[in-house]
Amino acid sequence: MRSLLFLMFMLSLAKLSAQEASPAWARETPEAKEKRMEWWRNDRFGLFIHWGLYSVPARHEWVQQREQISTEDYEKRYFNLFDPDLYHPEEWAAKAKEAGMKYAVITTRHHEGFSLWDTKFSDFKATNTPAKRDLIKPFVEACRNAGLKVGFYYSLIDWHHPDFTVDGTHAMRNNQEARASNAHRDMAKYRQFMKDQVRELLTNYGKIDMLFFDFSYPGKDGKGHEDWDSEGLLKLVRQLQPDIIVNDRLGLDAGWGWDYRTPEQFMPQSWPEIDGQKVPWETCQTFSGSWGYNRDENTWKSTNQLIAMLIEVVSKGGNLLLNVGPTARGYIDDRAQERLEGIGRWMKYNDRSIYGCTAAPSEFQKPDNCLLTYNPDTRRLYVHLLQWPFQTLYLPGFRGKVRYAQFLHDGSEVKFTVRTEASSHEHMAITAGANDLIVTLPIVKPNVEIPVLELILE
Ligand code: GLC
Repeated sequence: MRSLLFLMFMLSLAKLSAQEASPAWARETPEAKEKRMEWWRNDRFGLFIHWGLYSVPARHEWVQQREQISTEDYEKRYFNLFDPDLYHPEEWAAKAKEAGMKYAVITTRHHEGFSLWDTKFSDFKATNTPAKRDLIKPFVEACRNAGLKVGFYYSLIDWHHPDFTVDGTHAMRNNQEARASNAHRDMAKYRQFMKDQVRELLTNYGKIDMLFFDFSYPGKDGKGHEDWDSEGLLKLVRQLQPDIIVNDRLGLDAGWGWDYRTPEQFMPQSWPEIDGQKVPWETCQTFSGSWGYNRDENTWKSTNQLIAMLIEVVSKGGNLLLNVGPTARGYIDDRAQERLEGIGRWMKYNDRSIYGCTAAPSEFQKPDNCLLTYNPDTRRLYVHLLQWPFQTLYLPGFRGKVRYAQFLHDGSEVKFTVRTEASSHEHMAITAGANDLIVTLPIVKPNVEIPVLELILE
């Protein structure tokens, strides 16, 4: 008995010291995680920025891969020409802010392997182009000054690094000589290179709020999270910036503690779940299809579509990271500006239905042609009218749940009624259900891209 007690005592001591030895990030409770992600869940809307050498050819950020351009040619053509003489990151930050965005995530290094900062670990960097300077530093400062949170995108793929395997997705995949060079390419060195760079990024630029890794794939050549040492990378990130929020593209399963899902260029049907649990998510979307500046692309979404997209994302409990691809000279082109301004015009008077909001409780069913968001702190429900109805809006089953209704953009009262015995044969009440609210709207749609009703609940 005595020896059993002794054994139990020793075991509990061992457990205690193991806990102490494990770093804080590995011991994070679900509550602590909630707290760490609070700003992100509240803010909902951020700017993604894809900027690199690919802005020069201006026909997609995968141009090197698509056109199978060799490292030498890519350098000759674009590296030696990259001269963003009109780069004013404070203008970018101001545009993001005006649009109602609360954070900005920039490609510090995309798949082409070009670093926008003055890294010690590569010569393929902005400082060695005609730009002749670290372009990340002023970006971070501009965001900070504008009150935007800062995120870094970092590519796991690198078509320039001499140790990165020439695999099936590589720009040089069809070049026999390049393929043969795999014999002396050493991914262990590449893994170290990524860690060195990530350490620089997370050490030299102050507090970094988000990290967007992109992306791990199993691939034919047996690549996967081990090739990047995703676990090691994530540990390093957590150790350097304990409060940082990290995306899910390291190829690690959910138990590994990345923070949010990243559906790309599509709208999930409903709030994404893992094992029946709703997970934090952020969709990243482009204006026109490409992420990098694409001069000739003509598939631009309208401002109305983009606002509706933001609302729909929040109505499903997510965030929207909307991308802009600045030009090679460093400015945001007219088409993107026009849309950012349009979104800003709407946000100016309607952002209360976005910030701090999430999916509506399931007791509220969305009316025809509408999207609902809900603020759990203020207990206000927002009805977004995607299509302006004729005079009457029926809120199904809302009877007894709403104390007051107003337009969000101008705070003007909106009257509603319910079906009564007396009214049940009269015009608009004829088809209303006994538990519906019947809202009377002006005939003419207010001058708001997507009008919002704010309902103060009982
Ligand atoms: C993809 C693409 C890439 C883009 C990214 C944004 O993974 O490779 O070009 O940067 O998605 O989410």
